[in-house]
Amino acid sequence: MMQILQDARVFREACAAARQGGRRVALVPTMGALHEGHLTLAREARRHAGFVATTVFVNPTQFGPGEDLARYPRDLEGDAEKLRGAGVDALFAPPVEAMYPEGEQTRVRVGALAEPLCGAFRPGHFEGVATVVTKLLALTGPCTALFGRKDYQQLQVIRRVVQDLWLPVEVLGVPTVREADGLAMSSRNRYLTPDERGRALALVRGLRAAAALFDAGERRAGRLREAALEQVQQGASSIDYVSVAHPRQLTVLDGDTPVGEVALVAIAARVGTTRLIDNLVLGEDTLEAP
Ligand code: PAF
Repeated sequence: MMQILQDARVFREACAAARQGGRRVALVPTMGALHEGHLTLAREARRHAGFVATTVFVNPTQFGPGEDLARYPRDLEGDAEKLRGAGVDALFAPPVEAMYPEGEQTRVRVGALAEPLCGAFRPGHFEGVATVVTKLLALTGPCTALFGRKDYQQLQVIRRVVQDLWLPVEVLGVPTVREADGLAMSSRNRYLTPDERGRALALVRGLRAAAALFDAGERRAGRLREAALEQVQQGASSIDYVSVAHPRQLTVLDGDTPVGEVALVAIAARVGTTRLIDNLVLGEDTLEAP
C-alpha cells in the first residue's frame, strides 16, 4: 500500500522507520506529470532499495520570471496511480510552504558547472534545483537517489553538491527514455501541438547527425556542433544552444578543438513556445532503442 504524504515531518519519519526496519531507501525526486521516463526511474530504484520514495513537487525556486511555473502540468491523482503501479512505497507531495516555510533563507549554489548551457539561459535555475534536492535528500536519507540523464547538466550539478557537501548518498543517472520515433520523453511534450510534435524531432535528429559524424571519426568540436545545429534549425522555432562540451566539466568546445573519445552534445530549443532539451554523450550513450 503506497503512502501519500504531504507533511515533511511525517515523510521523514516514514523514511526513518524504513531504515530502522533494515530497508535500504531510494529516492526519485520529480515534479510530477509523470511519464515512462519517471516510471523507469522508480522501477530502477526498486532494484536498489526495499523502500522507494518518490517526491512530486513543482519547485518554484527553479523557475525564472516568465517561465512556465503557473502552467506546469499538475496531475497528482494520475501520478499516484502510476507510482502505485511501479511499486513505489511512499509518495511525498508537499505544498510549497512545507518545502519553503516562512523564515527559510538557505540556498545551495554550485559554481562553474551551473554556468554554461542551461545555466546561461536560466539564471538561478540550478540554485533552485540544488537547494530543493538537498532538502529532499536531507528529509529522506536515501542510500541511492536516481535522476534521468535527459537533464544532463542537472545530474552533474547534483553529483557536485553530493560530493562537495559529503552527502552520504549514491547518485545514479538513468538513460533517457524515448518515444518510438526518438523524441526524448518530457512532461513538457504535452504542450506540443501535433505539428510541433513532428518538428520536435529536429532535436534527436541533431544528436543523430553528430553521432554519425563522431562514429565516422570526426573529433573537431565545431564540425560536430554544426552537424547537430543544421538539423535542429529545421524544426526549432528558436534555439538557446546547440553545444559540444566536455562531458564532466561541461566546458563548451568549438572550432577545431578536438573533443577526445567522449563528448557531450547538448541542445535546448523552443518548438512553438515549448522549451525542450536533449543530449547525447558521444562515445558513451546510444540512441538505439534498448
Ligand atoms: O528533474 C526534475 O524534475 C526536477 O528538476 C527535480 C530534480 C525534481 C528538482 O525539482
